[in-house]
Amino acid sequence: MAQFVILNITFIIYTLKRMIPSIERKLREQLRLFRKRTPLSREAWHRARRILPGGVDGDDFASHPYPLQFESAAGAKVTDVDENEYIDYNMGFSSLILGHGDPKIRKAVSDIFESYGTNLLGASNPLEIQLATEISDIVRSAEKVRFTSSGTEANLLAIRIAMANRRKGKIAKFEGHYHGSFDYGLISSDTPRDELGPVRSPYPYSRSADIQEHTLYRTVVMPFNQLDETEALIKKNRKELSCLIMEPVAGGYRAASRDFIRGVRELTERYDIPFILDEITTGFRLGLGGAQEKYRITPDITTLGKIIGGGFPIGAVAGTRELMDSLDRYRNGSSEVYHGGTFNGNPISMSAGLATLSELKRGGTYTYLEKISQSIRKEIAEEGQSCGLKCQVLGISSIINVFFTGGKIKGYRDTLRADRSARQLFDLCLMNSGIFNVGEKPMFVSTAITKPEMRKTVEAIGGALRYMAS
Ligand SMILES: Cc1ncc(COP(=O)(O)O)c(C=O)c1O
Repeated sequence: MAQFVILNITFIIYTLKRMIPSIERKLREQLRLFRKRTPLSREAWHRARRILPGGVDGDDFASHPYPLQFESAAGAKVTDVDENEYIDYNMGFSSLILGHGDPKIRKAVSDIFESYGTNLLGASNPLEIQLATEISDIVRSAEKVRFTSSGTEANLLAIRIAMANRRKGKIAKFEGHYHGSFDYGLISSDTPRDELGPVRSPYPYSRSADIQEHTLYRTVVMPFNQLDETEALIKKNRKELSCLIMEPVAGGYRAASRDFIRGVRELTERYDIPFILDEITTGFRLGLGGAQEKYRITPDITTLGKIIGGGFPIGAVAGTRELMDSLDRYRNGSSEVYHGGTFNGNPISMSAGLATLSELKRGGTYTYLEKISQSIRKEIAEEGQSCGLKCQVLGISSIINVFFTGGKIKGYRDTLRADRSARQLFDLCLMNSGIFNVGEKPMFVSTAITKPEMRKTVEAIGGALRYMAS
């Protein structure tokens, strides 16, 4: 009798297990493995939560099920507190294009410690002139440059400059585009499916509880890569628009079509609306001259960040003399737009940025990055297809992203159809095989990736996809 009951229970458990969708079951399996491999990270996260909200210093660090705590990094690799080693494809959210601890950057920064002491702040220094000149020589729209300490601040300042110059109440931006942690930067950056509104006129969606109704009202949200609809919205609001802001490659992986971005440039010129191109991710990543060089367009203002700081805090607003001079305090005795910042132009970020640009200017860097990234994209696409998985590989230059969906991804709305659990599983499988990336974010390839890392990456991706399909 007891034997019969045990047999029955085993059968019921087996049947129930088969009924749980395979992705869910595998997610649990990988989560168990992740927890087993990273007990010290989990413990540290519990400690962190007592003092840091969510145990992190920003929403993007809050990956599932908890963030890893790293204790060292070198070249392409990072090591967590449990002594697991990973090949890093987050690379400081794209900032570290040369990998961790590049010797030229380290030398530049330690030379600065020697000559400037701890840090020369709140005073002018020759390095800011040098970095601004480098940027101006390379970035076609950069007649003058003002440094900030983050990309968020750069976009905020760019919008303020445009507002001061046009003095109209609204700004235009695109659905699914992120410009930093402030009202305009967040509006409609990740609208959920039931808040989208019509394609020809997306609703402004408040991603953060602090955003006020009147700011939503003052934001015209437009559909990316849809020129006719965008034209209609620009025309309708032209008398009220102080500027238009756009990511040339939305989310770092949905690239604007050439006709679209050029069309937007033409329309903004026609209606005299300052065009702000947010190149905080694409600047010095798509190539030396960023997206504007690739598309051959010249925006009125470009915002930069990440790579130009060589891994140290930075942002920059670069634009036409006419617009940028509203920050000139010596012109007519006072500036039209007030802008401060204790850490702006700090010598550490300036010197690390200069060392990075000098490396990037060496021939062959971008061809190398493109080659590695193309191989990874190809591996994911081919392995996904041979496993029968519905998986789409997107990205441009050294940016890679993966969505699990059968339909083609043309815009932000298509990404909402993708299977997020499958992507979470993919990320966890990679993490458990020693490939680090922040959950559901694009992968950023650095020059520190060489053949052995490349081989390990391809093996891990192949293994993850086969496991998902099994
Ligand atoms: C396109 C874009 N704009 C702005 C920002 C904000 O930059 P930061 O994080 O330096 O404030 C980011 C950051 O990821 C970004 O990707």
